[in-house]
Amino acid sequence: MDYNSLGRSGLKVSALGLGSSQYSFFCQHDNLHTIRECLAAALNGGINYIDTSEQYGLGKAELIIGELMRYIPRDQFIIGTKVMYGGTKPSQKGLNHKHIVDGLHNSLHRLQSDYVDILYCHGYDPDTSIHETVRAMDHLVHEGKIRYWGTSEWSRSQIEKAHSAARELNAVPPLVEQVKYNIFSRKRVEEEYAPLYPKYGMGLTTYYALYAGVLTGKYQEGIPKGSRIGKFQWLSQEGYLEEKNLKIIDELKEIAHNLDSTLAKLAVAWCLKNSKVNSVVIGATNKDQIEENIKAISVKEMLTEDVIARINRAVKKFS
Ligand SMILES: NC(=O)c1ccc[n+]([C@@H]2O[C@H](COP(=O)([O-])OP(=O)(O)OC[C@H]3O[C@@H](n4cnc5c(N)ncnc54)[C@H](OP(=O)(O)O)[C@@H]3O)[C@@H](O)[C@H]2O)c1
Repeated sequence: MDYNSLGRSGLKVSALGLGSSQYSFFCQHDNLHTIRECLAAALNGGINYIDTSEQYGLGKAELIIGELMRYIPRDQFIIGTKVMYGGTKPSQKGLNHKHIVDGLHNSLHRLQSDYVDILYCHGYDPDTSIHETVRAMDHLVHEGKIRYWGTSEWSRSQIEKAHSAARELNAVPPLVEQVKYNIFSRKRVEEEYAPLYPKYGMGLTTYYALYAGVLTGKYQEGIPKGSRIGKFQWLSQEGYLEEKNLKIIDELKEIAHNLDSTLAKLAVAWCLKNSKVNSVVIGATNKDQIEENIKAISVKEMLTEDVIARINRAVKKFS
């Protein structure tokens, strides 16, 4: 496993992180035994970053992580959780001071921990002033309940506003953004955010490396039983399996094959190759997937300029 500094901080985060939305949000896993195997495979493979949210199963993912991780010394792993969608009542949402503090306290209770390492804003809240959000995060850092804070899927100008509010308030600014990034979706990471990395030392954790599993190539011959789209058929209406995507994937599979790799490993390695990405958060429904995806670390070295150019040509050809 490789470890990267998270943005301008010295915190060493594993190049691959483990996601947890599938434990609950997608309800694919209610089986504690399988989840325990996934966590064990991740930790054995050197993953030290676990990604969760108050939203995933409305707290269920955090409960499971808290239960399974409680015997592991807390300083050996990094937990990032997210606040914004804590419940159905009006006071259980948003990035206002009350919900940020209440949401975090509820998360800490479920995670059986005194603190989280990273608290992300799980989206942007147009109803709350940026100054209120920044002040609430600063307060939690000073209380020792969070080590760092970040944003998720904020635009460049929203992130800029958070930094300027932090400067005005003499408060702790955000450190990291969590954003979608894969061979199909690159613009935000590669273009929109480009000025923010040198300007603020902004770190990145990314998700959807496998485009919800589609970038493994397993949907080429139809929808496999038990797969995410097989279980949640409404997802097939969301454009994941568009003909152009499947055509690109045919070509990408060929590139992976020539490297003696699988497409899953190639797709994860492609994200790892971007030095702005500190941790690629992978989702998995069983330990074999985690073990396979961790091997992407060694495929990264095979992604020469020539291979990257072939990947780009395959994407362009059908876009
Ligand atoms: N900040 C945000 O707004 C946000 C949004 C979404 C996700 N996230 C985080 O990012 C994590 C990852 O997201 P994600 O799970 O949706 O995306 P993903 O990593 O692109 O897709 C993961 C899914 O692909 C399939 N898969 C994984 N490895 C495979 C392999 N080697 N072979 C075959 N299939 C494989 C599994 O689904 P099946 O086996 O069921 O097909 C798995 O659940 C989440 O758990 C969450 O922590 C954050």
